[in-house]
Amino acid sequence: VSRPVRAIVYGVGAMGAIMARLLLEKGVEIVGAVARSPAKVGRDLGEVAGLDRTTGVLVEPDARPALERGADVALVAVSSYLHVMAHHFRLCLEHGTNVVTIEEETVWPWHTAPELAAELDATARANGVSIAASGAQDVFWMKLVATLMGAAHRIEEVTGYCSWNADDYGPEVAAHVHLGESPEAFARHLEEHGWPDFVARANLEALVADAGLTVAEVESGVEPVLAEEDTPSASLGRPVRRGHLLGILDTTTVRTAEGPTFSFAMAGRVYRAGEADVNEWTIRGEPDLHLRNDRVPTRLITCTSVVNRIPDVIAAEPGLVTLDRLPQPRYRHGALTLPS
Ligand SMILES: NC(=O)c1ccc[n+]([C@@H]2O[C@H](COP(=O)([O-])OP(=O)(O)OC[C@H]3O[C@@H](n4cnc5c(N)ncnc54)[C@H](OP(=O)(O)O)[C@@H]3O)[C@@H](O)[C@H]2O)c1
Repeated sequence: VSRPVRAIVYGVGAMGAIMARLLLEKGVEIVGAVARSPAKVGRDLGEVAGLDRTTGVLVEPDARPALERGADVALVAVSSYLHVMAHHFRLCLEHGTNVVTIEEETVWPWHTAPELAAELDATARANGVSIAASGAQDVFWMKLVATLMGAAHRIEEVTGYCSWNADDYGPEVAAHVHLGESPEAFARHLEEHGWPDFVARANLEALVADAGLTVAEVESGVEPVLAEEDTPSASLGRPVRRGHLLGILDTTTVRTAEGPTFSFAMAGRVYRAGEADVNEWTIRGEPDLHLRNDRVPTRLITCTSVVNRIPDVIAAEPGLVTLDRLPQPRYRHGALTLPS
Protein backbone atom coordinates (compact mmCIF):
# COMPACT_ATOMS: atom_id res chain seq x y z
CA VAL A 1 0.00 0.00 0.00
CA SER A 2 1.38 3.40 -0.89
CA ARG A 3 0.73 7.02 0.01
CA PRO A 4 1.64 10.29 -1.71
CA VAL A 5 5.00 11.90 -0.92
CA ARG A 6 4.50 14.86 1.46
CA ALA A 7 6.53 17.92 0.43
CA ILE A 8 7.15 21.56 1.34
CA VAL A 9 7.72 24.20 -1.34
CA TYR A 10 10.39 26.20 0.49
CA GLY A 11 10.69 29.42 -1.56
CA VAL A 12 7.84 30.33 -3.92
CA GLY A 13 9.81 32.42 -6.43
CA ALA A 14 10.34 31.80 -10.13
CA MET A 15 11.60 28.25 -9.47
CA GLY A 16 9.38 27.29 -6.52
CA ALA A 17 6.27 28.27 -8.51
CA ILE A 18 7.17 25.81 -11.29
CA MET A 19 8.07 23.11 -8.77
CA ALA A 20 4.65 23.54 -7.11
CA ARG A 21 2.89 22.77 -10.41
CA LEU A 22 5.10 19.74 -11.11
CA LEU A 23 4.54 18.38 -7.59
CA LEU A 24 0.76 18.66 -7.88
CA GLU A 25 0.85 16.95 -11.29
CA LYS A 26 2.89 14.12 -9.72
CA GLY A 27 0.23 13.60 -7.03
CA VAL A 28 2.47 14.96 -4.27
CA GLU A 29 0.73 16.22 -1.14
CA ILE A 30 2.02 19.75 -0.54
CA VAL A 31 1.93 20.36 3.22
CA GLY A 32 3.46 23.83 3.27
CA ALA A 33 4.83 26.72 1.22
CA VAL A 34 7.27 29.36 2.40
CA ALA A 35 8.04 32.90 1.18
CA ARG A 36 8.60 36.17 2.97
CA SER A 37 7.04 39.12 1.13
CA PRO A 38 3.70 40.51 2.35
CA ALA A 39 2.46 40.18 -1.24
CA LYS A 40 2.70 36.37 -0.93
CA VAL A 41 2.29 35.45 2.74
CA GLY A 42 -1.25 34.37 3.69
CA ARG A 43 -2.33 33.70 0.09
CA ASP A 44 -3.06 30.31 -1.47
CA LEU A 45 -0.01 28.67 -3.03
CA GLY A 46 -1.94 28.05 -6.27
CA GLU A 47 -2.62 31.75 -6.63
CA VAL A 48 0.94 32.85 -5.72
CA ALA A 49 2.45 30.28 -8.09
CA GLY A 50 0.14 31.37 -10.94
CA LEU A 51 -1.60 27.98 -11.17
CA ASP A 52 -5.14 27.67 -12.44
CA ARG A 53 -6.31 26.09 -9.18
CA THR A 54 -6.21 26.67 -5.46
CA THR A 55 -4.38 24.18 -3.25
CA GLY A 56 -5.69 24.85 0.26
CA VAL A 57 -2.07 25.55 1.26
CA LEU A 58 -1.41 29.09 2.49
CA VAL A 59 2.05 30.61 2.03
CA GLU A 60 3.74 31.07 5.41
CA PRO A 61 6.72 33.28 6.34
CA ASP A 62 8.32 30.61 8.55
CA ALA A 63 8.88 26.94 7.68
CA ARG A 64 8.41 25.62 11.23
CA PRO A 65 4.62 25.08 11.18
CA ALA A 66 4.85 23.17 7.89
CA LEU A 67 7.80 21.11 9.15
CA GLU A 68 5.81 20.29 12.31
CA ARG A 69 2.91 19.06 10.18
CA GLY A 70 5.40 16.45 8.88
CA ALA A 71 6.95 16.31 5.41
CA ASP A 72 9.13 13.73 3.70
CA VAL A 73 11.05 16.35 1.77
CA ALA A 74 11.49 20.11 1.39
CA LEU A 75 12.24 21.52 -2.07
CA VAL A 76 14.38 24.52 -1.17
CA ALA A 77 14.66 27.25 -3.83
CA VAL A 78 15.46 30.43 -1.92
CA SER A 79 18.96 31.79 -2.39
CA SER A 80 22.59 30.93 -3.09
CA TYR A 81 25.68 30.22 -0.94
CA LEU A 82 25.76 27.77 1.95
CA HIS A 83 26.48 30.50 4.51
CA VAL A 84 23.20 32.20 3.52
CA MET A 85 21.15 29.02 3.25
CA ALA A 86 22.51 26.90 6.12
CA HIS A 87 19.88 27.97 8.67
CA HIS A 88 17.04 27.02 6.27
CA PHE A 89 18.64 23.61 5.65
CA ARG A 90 19.36 23.07 9.38
CA LEU A 91 15.72 23.79 10.23
CA CYS A 92 14.47 21.14 7.77
CA LEU A 93 17.02 18.51 8.78
CA GLU A 94 16.40 19.03 12.52
CA HIS A 95 12.71 18.35 11.88
CA GLY A 96 13.60 15.04 10.19
CA THR A 97 12.78 16.38 6.71
CA ASN A 98 14.96 15.50 3.70
CA VAL A 99 16.15 18.42 1.57
CA VAL A 100 16.58 18.69 -2.18
CA THR A 101 17.74 22.14 -3.17
CA ILE A 102 18.91 24.16 -6.17
CA GLU A 103 21.37 26.06 -3.97
CA GLU A 104 24.46 25.75 -6.14
CA GLU A 105 27.20 25.28 -3.53
CA THR A 106 25.48 22.20 -2.07
CA VAL A 107 26.29 20.36 -5.33
CA TRP A 108 29.80 19.76 -3.90
CA PRO A 109 30.62 22.08 -0.97
CA TRP A 110 33.51 20.29 0.78
CA HIS A 111 36.24 22.70 -0.36
CA THR A 112 34.39 26.05 -0.49
CA ALA A 113 32.41 25.66 2.78
CA PRO A 114 33.94 22.70 4.65
CA GLU A 115 32.71 23.58 8.16
CA LEU A 116 29.11 24.15 7.07
CA ALA A 117 29.19 21.02 4.92
CA ALA A 118 30.43 18.95 7.87
CA GLU A 119 27.86 20.47 10.21
CA LEU A 120 24.94 19.85 7.84
CA ASP A 121 26.22 16.34 7.11
CA ALA A 122 26.29 15.59 10.87
CA THR A 123 22.84 17.14 11.45
CA ALA A 124 21.35 15.13 8.58
CA ARG A 125 22.91 11.90 9.89
CA ALA A 126 21.73 12.57 13.45
CA ASN A 127 18.18 12.97 12.15
CA GLY A 128 18.27 10.06 9.71
CA VAL A 129 17.68 12.23 6.63
CA SER A 130 19.69 13.55 3.70
CA ILE A 131 20.36 16.78 1.85
CA ALA A 132 21.38 17.02 -1.80
CA ALA A 133 21.36 19.53 -4.63
CA SER A 134 19.99 19.08 -8.13
CA GLY A 135 18.95 21.64 -10.75
CA ALA A 136 20.52 22.42 -14.12
CA GLN A 137 23.79 20.94 -12.86
CA ASP A 138 22.35 17.49 -12.38
CA VAL A 139 21.59 16.09 -15.84
CA PHE A 140 23.09 18.66 -18.19
CA TRP A 141 26.30 19.91 -16.54
CA MET A 142 27.33 16.86 -14.54
CA LYS A 143 25.74 13.45 -15.18
CA LEU A 144 25.73 13.70 -19.02
CA VAL A 145 29.37 14.75 -18.88
CA ALA A 146 30.34 12.01 -16.41
CA THR A 147 28.60 9.48 -18.67
CA LEU A 148 30.51 10.74 -21.73
CA MET A 149 33.76 10.49 -19.74
CA GLY A 150 32.84 6.81 -19.31
CA ALA A 151 33.63 6.31 -23.01
CA ALA A 152 37.16 7.75 -22.72
CA HIS A 153 40.31 5.68 -22.43
CA ARG A 154 42.47 8.67 -21.42
CA ILE A 155 41.48 12.24 -20.62
CA GLU A 156 43.68 15.31 -20.82
CA GLU A 157 41.06 18.02 -20.62
CA VAL A 158 37.32 18.43 -20.08
CA THR A 159 35.92 21.80 -21.15
CA GLY A 160 32.33 22.96 -20.68
CA TYR A 161 30.30 25.97 -21.74
CA CYS A 162 26.68 26.74 -20.94
CA SER A 163 24.44 29.75 -21.17
CA TRP A 164 21.11 30.60 -19.56
CA ASN A 165 18.85 33.62 -19.71
CA ALA A 166 18.82 35.70 -16.52
CA ASP A 167 15.30 36.84 -17.47
CA ASP A 168 14.03 33.28 -16.88
CA TYR A 169 14.62 33.60 -13.13
CA GLY A 170 13.71 35.84 -10.21
CA PRO A 171 15.30 38.68 -8.22
CA GLU A 172 17.77 36.36 -6.42
CA VAL A 173 19.35 35.46 -9.75
CA ALA A 174 19.24 39.05 -11.09
CA ALA A 175 21.21 40.12 -8.00
CA HIS A 176 23.66 37.24 -8.41
CA VAL A 177 24.57 38.25 -12.00
CA HIS A 178 24.56 41.98 -11.12
CA LEU A 179 21.93 42.56 -13.80
CA GLY A 180 21.64 46.21 -14.88
CA GLU A 181 24.66 47.38 -12.85
CA SER A 182 27.27 49.74 -14.30
CA PRO A 183 30.70 48.18 -15.00
CA GLU A 184 32.20 50.60 -12.48
CA ALA A 185 29.84 49.46 -9.71
CA PHE A 186 30.57 45.82 -10.61
CA ALA A 187 34.35 46.45 -10.51
CA ARG A 188 33.97 48.10 -7.08
CA HIS A 189 31.95 45.11 -5.87
CA LEU A 190 34.70 42.72 -7.04
CA GLU A 191 37.38 44.83 -5.36
CA GLU A 192 35.53 44.87 -2.06
CA HIS A 193 34.08 41.35 -1.98
CA GLY A 194 35.99 39.30 -4.56
CA TRP A 195 34.14 36.78 -6.73
CA PRO A 196 32.54 33.74 -5.09
CA ASP A 197 33.58 30.98 -7.47
CA PHE A 198 31.07 28.44 -6.28
CA VAL A 199 28.61 27.72 -9.17
CA ALA A 200 30.97 26.55 -11.96
CA ARG A 201 33.44 25.31 -9.36
CA ALA A 202 31.05 23.12 -7.37
CA ASN A 203 29.96 21.47 -10.62
CA LEU A 204 33.57 20.73 -11.61
CA GLU A 205 34.37 19.46 -8.11
CA ALA A 206 31.51 16.94 -8.49
CA LEU A 207 32.91 15.80 -11.86
CA VAL A 208 36.43 15.49 -10.43
CA ALA A 209 35.15 13.54 -7.41
CA ASP A 210 33.11 11.26 -9.68
CA ALA A 211 36.26 10.39 -11.65
CA GLY A 212 38.11 9.59 -8.41
CA LEU A 213 40.60 12.40 -9.06
CA THR A 214 42.08 14.92 -6.62
CA VAL A 215 41.84 18.71 -6.91
CA ALA A 216 45.33 20.24 -6.99
CA GLU A 217 44.65 23.82 -8.07
CA VAL A 218 41.57 25.94 -8.70
CA GLU A 219 41.45 29.15 -10.69
CA SER A 220 38.25 31.16 -11.00
CA GLY A 221 37.30 34.37 -12.65
CA VAL A 222 34.37 36.45 -13.78
CA GLU A 223 33.80 38.84 -16.65
CA PRO A 224 30.92 41.26 -17.01
CA VAL A 225 28.82 40.87 -20.18
CA LEU A 226 27.80 44.39 -21.28
CA ALA A 227 24.75 45.48 -23.26
CA GLU A 228 25.60 46.75 -26.75
CA GLU A 229 22.30 48.65 -26.80
CA ASP A 230 19.48 49.32 -24.37
CA THR A 231 18.06 45.81 -23.81
CA PRO A 232 14.66 45.05 -22.25
CA SER A 233 14.76 42.86 -19.13
CA ALA A 234 11.62 41.22 -17.73
CA SER A 235 13.41 40.29 -14.51
CA LEU A 236 14.61 43.84 -13.91
CA GLY A 237 11.33 45.39 -15.05
CA ARG A 238 13.21 48.00 -17.10
CA PRO A 239 15.80 47.99 -19.90
CA VAL A 240 19.46 47.34 -19.16
CA ARG A 241 21.19 50.48 -20.36
CA ARG A 242 23.81 50.30 -23.09
CA GLY A 243 27.22 49.60 -21.50
CA HIS A 244 25.69 48.17 -18.32
CA LEU A 245 25.65 44.53 -17.22
CA LEU A 246 23.45 42.01 -19.04
CA GLY A 247 25.02 39.48 -16.70
CA ILE A 248 28.27 37.60 -16.20
CA LEU A 249 30.55 34.91 -17.56
CA ASP A 250 31.70 32.79 -14.63
CA THR A 251 34.76 30.61 -15.32
CA THR A 252 36.57 27.99 -13.25
CA THR A 253 39.50 25.74 -14.08
CA VAL A 254 40.40 22.82 -11.84
CA ARG A 255 43.76 21.09 -12.30
CA THR A 256 43.95 17.64 -10.77
CA ALA A 257 46.96 16.04 -9.08
CA GLU A 258 46.65 13.11 -11.51
CA GLY A 259 46.81 15.31 -14.64
CA PRO A 260 43.41 15.90 -16.27
CA THR A 261 42.23 19.51 -16.28
CA PHE A 262 38.56 20.53 -16.06
CA SER A 263 37.18 23.94 -16.99
CA PHE A 264 33.67 25.33 -17.16
CA ALA A 265 32.44 28.71 -18.38
CA MET A 266 28.87 29.62 -17.46
CA ALA A 267 27.17 32.63 -19.06
CA GLY A 268 24.18 33.90 -17.08
CA ARG A 269 22.83 36.99 -18.81
CA VAL A 270 19.80 38.57 -20.42
CA TYR A 271 19.54 37.44 -24.04
CA ARG A 272 19.29 39.45 -27.20
CA ALA A 273 16.44 38.43 -29.54
CA GLY A 274 16.82 34.94 -30.98
CA GLU A 275 19.35 33.60 -28.45
CA ALA A 276 18.75 30.29 -26.66
CA ASP A 277 20.35 28.21 -23.89
CA VAL A 278 23.33 26.05 -24.86
CA ASN A 279 25.18 23.25 -23.07
CA GLU A 280 28.41 22.07 -24.69
CA TRP A 281 31.25 19.88 -23.40
CA THR A 282 34.44 18.68 -25.08
CA ILE A 283 36.72 15.94 -23.82
CA ARG A 284 40.27 15.97 -25.18
CA GLY A 285 42.12 12.66 -24.93
CA GLU A 286 41.67 9.25 -26.46
CA PRO A 287 39.30 9.59 -28.13
CA ASP A 288 38.21 13.23 -28.35
CA LEU A 289 34.52 13.38 -27.40
CA HIS A 290 31.94 16.10 -27.71
CA LEU A 291 28.35 16.77 -26.64
CA ARG A 292 26.15 19.72 -27.39
CA ASN A 293 22.56 20.41 -26.39
CA ASP A 294 20.88 23.29 -28.22
CA ARG A 295 17.85 25.20 -26.94
CA VAL A 296 18.10 23.65 -23.48
CA PRO A 297 14.97 24.65 -21.50
CA THR A 298 17.19 25.34 -18.48
CA ARG A 299 14.51 26.98 -16.34
CA LEU A 300 12.16 24.01 -16.64
CA ILE A 301 14.78 21.24 -16.42
CA THR A 302 16.09 22.89 -13.25
CA CYS A 303 12.70 22.11 -11.68
CA THR A 304 11.92 18.75 -13.34
CA SER A 305 15.36 17.48 -12.26
CA VAL A 306 14.64 18.42 -8.64
CA VAL A 307 11.24 16.73 -8.61
CA ASN A 308 12.65 13.56 -10.23
CA ARG A 309 15.32 13.47 -7.50
CA ILE A 310 12.80 13.27 -4.64
CA PRO A 311 12.85 9.44 -4.44
CA ASP A 312 16.67 9.39 -4.56
CA VAL A 313 17.05 11.92 -1.77
CA ILE A 314 14.54 10.09 0.42
CA ALA A 315 16.29 6.75 -0.26
CA ALA A 316 19.86 8.08 0.15
CA GLU A 317 22.12 7.21 3.08
CA PRO A 318 21.61 9.90 5.72
CA GLY A 319 23.96 12.87 5.40
CA LEU A 320 24.99 15.44 2.83
CA VAL A 321 25.00 13.65 -0.52
CA THR A 322 27.06 15.42 -3.17
CA LEU A 323 25.87 15.23 -6.77
CA ASP A 324 28.53 12.69 -7.78
CA ARG A 325 27.08 10.32 -5.15
CA LEU A 326 23.48 10.53 -6.39
CA PRO A 327 22.56 7.67 -8.75
CA GLN A 328 21.88 8.11 -12.47
CA PRO A 329 18.95 10.51 -12.86
CA ARG A 330 15.70 8.80 -13.92
CA TYR A 331 12.37 9.65 -15.46
CA ARG A 332 9.56 9.14 -12.92
CA HIS A 333 6.31 8.10 -14.55
CA GLY A 334 3.09 8.88 -12.69
CA ALA A 335 2.57 9.71 -9.03
CA LEU A 336 5.45 9.99 -6.55
CA THR A 337 4.54 7.70 -3.67
CA LEU A 338 6.10 6.01 -0.66
CA PRO A 339 5.11 2.78 1.09
CA SER A 340 2.58 3.66 3.82
N1 LIG B 1 20.93 25.08 -9.55
C1 LIG B 1 20.16 25.58 -10.47
O1 LIG B 1 19.98 24.99 -11.53
C2 LIG B 1 19.42 26.85 -10.24
C3 LIG B 1 18.58 27.35 -11.23
C4 LIG B 1 17.84 28.50 -10.96
C5 LIG B 1 18.00 29.16 -9.75
N2 LIG B 1 18.87 28.67 -8.83
C6 LIG B 1 19.01 29.34 -7.52
O2 LIG B 1 17.79 29.20 -6.82
C7 LIG B 1 17.51 30.38 -6.06
C8 LIG B 1 16.09 30.82 -6.35
O3 LIG B 1 15.95 31.22 -7.69
P1 LIG B 1 14.61 31.93 -8.20
O4 LIG B 1 14.82 32.33 -9.60
O5 LIG B 1 13.43 31.09 -7.84
O6 LIG B 1 14.65 33.22 -7.23
P2 LIG B 1 13.45 34.15 -6.74
O7 LIG B 1 12.37 34.22 -7.78
O8 LIG B 1 14.07 35.41 -6.24
O9 LIG B 1 12.80 33.32 -5.51
C9 LIG B 1 13.35 33.24 -4.22
C10 LIG B 1 12.24 32.79 -3.27
O10 LIG B 1 12.78 32.61 -1.97
C11 LIG B 1 12.01 33.38 -1.03
N3 LIG B 1 12.86 33.84 0.06
C12 LIG B 1 13.97 34.58 -0.02
N4 LIG B 1 14.51 34.77 1.20
C13 LIG B 1 13.70 34.12 2.07
C14 LIG B 1 13.69 33.95 3.48
N5 LIG B 1 14.65 34.48 4.23
N6 LIG B 1 12.71 33.22 4.02
C15 LIG B 1 11.74 32.66 3.26
N7 LIG B 1 11.69 32.78 1.93
C16 LIG B 1 12.65 33.51 1.34
C17 LIG B 1 11.45 34.52 -1.83
O11 LIG B 1 10.30 35.03 -1.18
P3 LIG B 1 9.60 36.41 -1.68
O12 LIG B 1 9.26 36.20 -3.12
O13 LIG B 1 8.39 36.48 -0.83
O14 LIG B 1 10.61 37.47 -1.47
C18 LIG B 1 11.10 33.80 -3.13
O15 LIG B 1 9.87 33.13 -2.99
C19 LIG B 1 18.59 31.39 -6.44
O16 LIG B 1 19.55 31.42 -5.40
C20 LIG B 1 19.22 30.83 -7.69
O17 LIG B 1 20.59 31.13 -7.81
C21 LIG B 1 19.57 27.54 -9.05
